[in-house]
Amino acid sequence: MDRIRIVGGKPLNGVIPISGAKNAALPLMIASLLTDRTVTLENLPRLADVSLLVRILSNHGVDYSIDGRRQGEDPDSGQTVHMTAREIVDTTAPYELVSRMRASFWVLAPLLARCGEARVSLPGGCAIGTRPVDLLLMAMERLGASIDIDAGYVVAKAPSGGLRGGEIDFPKVTVGGTHVALMAASLAHGTTVIHNAAREPEIGDLADLLVKMGAKVQGAGSPVIEVEGVARLVGAKHRVLPDRIEAGTYAMAAAMAGGDVLLQGARAEHLQAALDILAEAGARVEATPDGLRVSRNGNGIKPVDVATAPFPGFPTDLQAQFMALMTRADGVSRITETIFENRFMHVQELARFGARIKLEGDSAIVEGVPTLKGAPVMATDLRASVSLVIAALAAEGESMIQRVYHLDRGFEALERKLSRCGADVTRISSGD
Ligand code: UD1
Repeated sequence: MDRIRIVGGKPLNGVIPISGAKNAALPLMIASLLTDRTVTLENLPRLADVSLLVRILSNHGVDYSIDGRRQGEDPDSGQTVHMTAREIVDTTAPYELVSRMRASFWVLAPLLARCGEARVSLPGGCAIGTRPVDLLLMAMERLGASIDIDAGYVVAKAPSGGLRGGEIDFPKVTVGGTHVALMAASLAHGTTVIHNAAREPEIGDLADLLVKMGAKVQGAGSPVIEVEGVARLVGAKHRVLPDRIEAGTYAMAAAMAGGDVLLQGARAEHLQAALDILAEAGARVEATPDGLRVSRNGNGIKPVDVATAPFPGFPTDLQAQFMALMTRADGVSRITETIFENRFMHVQELARFGARIKLEGDSAIVEGVPTLKGAPVMATDLRASVSLVIAALAAEGESMIQRVYHLDRGFEALERKLSRCGADVTRISSGD
């Protein structure tokens, strides 16, 4: 298994290109199941989760091809993938595949809408507390589906005439629930209204693709989305939006290590809550025509309390990274996690650097320390792992991060992006 070695203490200076968003790429790819025509996605990040989803979709009958490198193209720039689900050959998504990536459970919606049935294993993915799918199933039921659980599989069937539009009122904001509701409603008979919909930019990106495919969607990005079902969707071409979580992560890395970075392609409007908090913590954040510029020189890090919330609030996917930053603040901060239970696995690993963190229910109380010391640590889940990278960048001496396959699920070319900005980061392959 690969490891990442970081020698801390170097500021970050330079340009970090922001990749296509993993959390947009996955639902966009899954939407290709809704049509027998070709969906072309540009700027897809080169990530383990994307490759795994390609495998899962090809198992359902999706043909795919990936464009080769073009003249003058940066090898780290996103890829263009053409996906065609001419015929769905299998409506079962097996345990071996779905258990490795939670979002692959979302194939349930397009399979059900297009083929009238789906058999999908209950999901796996990051071990961050219980992550039920009851609301996703409720949404499918509101569109007329019958749902059974059989030997660890969800067995969903549409009524004989196909799914019909309905009212879906989510008692809790759910990104996955909103994605599946949007996809299924696009091919249902009649109108669907989704209440308390998630407003994450990735929802808007999926809605944009669906509209290009001929769907009638209104209100994406607001809490109420209306979808008028159509009989058929067609092919389309779409560019994946930039990854706001990757951008936020490097913004925190720059605030932690000091220096001045341009997050090329990042959009402030997707990240405002986190940028405001970073500015309070003492970073300088500036939107430029090319992206976001983040810097901190010399002055200390101020403690700031934060609570995660659905968009436009502070994202849970940046909670671990922000906690890493707060470990070096000049004082005490409280970080409250309101979206997922048990999303504090990074706490014990951060403690290995000498961080002082106490857990109190759904909050972590972080008492900043003047210096962190490099240490061997272990990545536990995707976002937690990158918080260890951030801590290591500012720690004195060497850190070795084990189990970096978690990082490879969600951060494209992490070590190259950081070393180009002056960090001392090396990947040690298992063979070395
Ligand atoms: C997506 C993101 C993930 C992010 C999360 C919250 C992707 C691939 N993943 O995950 O990175 O951390 O949004 O922004 O886009 N819930 C239920 N029942 C359900 C579904 C969800 O109770 O049927 C709960 C969850 O346990 C959680 C909350 O709702 O407490 C939000 O989860 P949700 O927004 O659905 O997360 P994901 O879509 O899985």
